Amino acid sequence: HNATTVSSKTIPIPDTFLGVFVEEINHACAGGLWAELVRNKGFEVRGPNNTLNVWSIIGNESFISVSINDSSCFERNKAALQMEVHCNDKNPCPSGGVGISNPGYWGMNIEQGKRYKVVYHIKSEGEEGDFNFQLSFTGVGVIEVSSNITQVPEDGKWRKVETEVEAKATNHYSSLQITTSKGGSYLFDQISVMPLDTYMGHGFRKDLFQMVADLKPKFMRFPGGTYVEGYHLQNKYQWKDTIGAWEERPGHNNDIWNYWSDDGIGYLEYLQLAEDLGALPIWVFNAGFSRNEQINPSDLGPYVQDALDGIEFAKGSPESKWGSVRAGLGHPKPFDLRYVAIGNEDCEFSNYQANYLKIHDAIRSAYPDIKLISNCDASVTPLKHPADLFDFHTYTTSKDLFSMSTQFDRTARSGPKAFVSEFAVWRKDAGNGSLLAAVAEAAFLIGLEKNSDIVDMVAYAPLFSNINDRKWIPDAIVFDSYQMYGTPSYWVQKLFVESSGATFLPSTLNTTSSNQLIASAISWKDSTENKNYIRIKVVNFGRGTETIDISIDGFPVGQQFGCTKTVLTSDNVMDENSFAQPTKVVPQTSSAVNVESKIQAILSPFSVTSFDFLI
Ligand code: AHR
Repeated sequence: HNATTVSSKTIPIPDTFLGVFVEEINHACAGGLWAELVRNKGFEVRGPNNTLNVWSIIGNESFISVSINDSSCFERNKAALQMEVHCNDKNPCPSGGVGISNPGYWGMNIEQGKRYKVVYHIKSEGEEGDFNFQLSFTGVGVIEVSSNITQVPEDGKWRKVETEVEAKATNHYSSLQITTSKGGSYLFDQISVMPLDTYMGHGFRKDLFQMVADLKPKFMRFPGGTYVEGYHLQNKYQWKDTIGAWEERPGHNNDIWNYWSDDGIGYLEYLQLAEDLGALPIWVFNAGFSRNEQINPSDLGPYVQDALDGIEFAKGSPESKWGSVRAGLGHPKPFDLRYVAIGNEDCEFSNYQANYLKIHDAIRSAYPDIKLISNCDASVTPLKHPADLFDFHTYTTSKDLFSMSTQFDRTARSGPKAFVSEFAVWRKDAGNGSLLAAVAEAAFLIGLEKNSDIVDMVAYAPLFSNINDRKWIPDAIVFDSYQMYGTPSYWVQKLFVESSGATFLPSTLNTTSSNQLIASAISWKDSTENKNYIRIKVVNFGRGTETIDISIDGFPVGQQFGCTKTVLTSDNVMDENSFAQPTKVVPQTSSAVNVESKIQAILSPFSVTSFDFLI
């Protein structure tokens, strides 16, 4: 093939270019980024006939019986565990006692020397305060006897047991056990184990937080995705239920991804997460749609009000109604909320246009500066309604995504900007996260850089997956209770971190052998080092090795540069990373000094190569 691709424009790539999309899918938050170790901590999820779910019983039925009833002291989540311990002098409990056990999210990571805050609420139906339960983590022994009563909740007989423990050994897949050898009748509720060592004490698992922070995301879209809509409207994301004391949060059935969300990362924590990442929050709220239902525009009032209240909660002054709630929860400073998305993937619904306009107009008049994002794709045909940005999602084959690098070439420049808020290669080509997928994604990203006069923001999806419950494959970061790795797609995003706020430079790619190459050039300044770079990225999406000549115009012949070459490739196009081989497919970097502005480079089959010239 003979192919010449010319990018003649110099484009200031938006500062907001590369970001992340955090959705409660694959246990990204519950059992992931949110460091809470206890699963179903409020017993809200029940088994058949009010039996336990996730929790199990220690001891047999001659010593203990349990069931779930609705007698909690917490008004918004009434489920509590009723425990009858039948042990007495005639029927003594087995050694070690009887009680309940929780495995967390496929094992709790208990690490030697780390401290954990343990809280539970208990009511003894015998004499007031008459109980003696012991706390232990399997594999690390008994940590402490829990007799430390710190607070009496409203109902006189409920006690909040709160204690800090230090692990004396490590078990990455431990379970919590709460046991007694004393007969009696007890109620339990809201049982929590939180590691103290979370990001800035904000409750985020540090290792997972760091993986995201390393992508230097400029924005953070949250909390979904279809998670916002739900499969049924009754299970949609309702931000007002996710704020306040964790014991009082009802949690909800994340029916679209088929697991319970305890909303530990609630609306406030999502905003906090964005702030901690140095990313602009982009809140997606429900516009009156689930995957199965739609609200008529005439009934949309509560949805409009919820959106307005949510914006006020995020960015209102501490004197405003909802801003004062935020301030009361410990964040008086308004969050920097500049963008909201009106629904997720709802353009297909017949009511979207009307619902969108109602919400759009209400927000526009109350918050003229907030940028409003429509769900309708304007990459080919213009929108039928006003918007600042339009959402664009794609999950497709590697070939198709490679060819979609031209998707925005012909998009009208007069209309709203594009927000590519979800993209990935999926299904067969992606395996569990393949090199093939990552190479095609790099080509697509180069196409977005080329069109960054109209493409404002871009995020891969999904970001996270707990390996024990992968609802959607592939993902960028895969983890379990204590370990994690980035898929090749994660590492491709790392190669585009410097693109945010960089300058896209005119370039020409001349090739006589392949139409499977795509390249771009950017320049950027590393402000911490105070150094200027030109980065040339080339994607080879073909089976053959390619040799290319790279020349940078504008420098005198003989001028020499330092050059760092980074290559992402592997022996097999379907190669993946794993816990056993977390760095099988990661970028390899080599540096050379005294390189001229004309170099020859060999590109491996299915590879992404970047050359950083220090200028
Ligand atoms: O990223 C996974 C899902 O894909 C999102 O929830 C949804 O918006 C899209 O369909």
